[in-house]
Amino acid sequence: MKEAIDRICKELEELRASTQKEAEEARIRFLGKKGEITALMEQFRTVAPELKREYGQKLNELKKTALARIEELKSAAEEAAQDLAPKEDLTMPGDAFPLGSRHPVSIVRQQIVDIFRKFGYDVAEGPEIEDDYHVFEALNFPPNHPAREMQDTFFVSTGHVNPLLLRTHTSSVQVRTMETQPLPIRVVCPGRVFRNEAISARAHCIFHQVEGLYIDKNVTFADLKQAILLFAREMFGPETEIRMRPSYFPFTEPSAEVDVSCNICHGKGCNICKGTGWLEIMGCGMVDPNVLKASGIDPEVYSGFAFGMGVERIAMLKWQVNDLRHYFENDMRFLQEFATATEV
Ligand code: DAH
Repeated sequence: MKEAIDRICKELEELRASTQKEAEEARIRFLGKKGEITALMEQFRTVAPELKREYGQKLNELKKTALARIEELKSAAEEAAQDLAPKEDLTMPGDAFPLGSRHPVSIVRQQIVDIFRKFGYDVAEGPEIEDDYHVFEALNFPPNHPAREMQDTFFVSTGHVNPLLLRTHTSSVQVRTMETQPLPIRVVCPGRVFRNEAISARAHCIFHQVEGLYIDKNVTFADLKQAILLFAREMFGPETEIRMRPSYFPFTEPSAEVDVSCNICHGKGCNICKGTGWLEIMGCGMVDPNVLKASGIDPEVYSGFAFGMGVERIAMLKWQVNDLRHYFENDMRFLQEFATATEV
């Protein structure tokens, strides 16, 4: 009997169970009706009286140990089973989270670029922190032109001949393109521009422009007019008409401002076009010979046209938004309006 007790003791120590079922099987094997320990208990009746005390104690201890060990295995198996079990109901539908959409300014900028790409224009980009030379001097701004002054321009560094500043228009990219690219040139230059202006419904200190530049032999004002008419019809609809009013920009001669016919009232006059039937969309002109010369292009051989438009302005006209500030406040209710407005 002593040997049997020692063997079972050892077996209990080595006993393992990875599931509750295995633990239960172990219980039956040792403590069940026909279990090994139960059998020893029965055998106990036949033990010689002088040994009863010793074996009685041993058997009781063995039974206690077996019960504790099996209990321990059972709860370990139960814990492991809980760890494996999914804690949440995986069949529940997921939490819907709102999908973002492109910003209306990005949508319109892309539409402008896509239209000109169709006409064979490439996209050119330049730095937002520019120098005075590329923003003003090479574009034929006279030395004391008011646009250079502190009221309009955010200067990054001052006190030297060619100060760094935040570009006030993307016309600076024209200059960089003429400096680096072979002729002929046909590019649009989308980008952010910065002006030291008080924020209101019609002005902001940061906004977006798309500049255009076409330089080749024999480029004429008629080409400019045609390019802009085609653009306006792609952007605002096939019925759109344009008109050009004489204007002044230092970098173009002659210069013009372009209006498109109001696509709300079709020329009859409404509050969007302030009763005129026309909406201003951009400035343009023939590249001034001084600008060509500054970038090493011979104005006797080459000519070109340029134009520049504000992206927010085009977007405001397209969607009749009456306050520029909406584009910068990121109010979800406003932005959601454009969630599906991706096609031209
Ligand atoms: N750079 C001008 C502005 O920011 C826009 C402009 C006007 C660009 C006429 C041009 C142009 O290329 O020919 O107001």
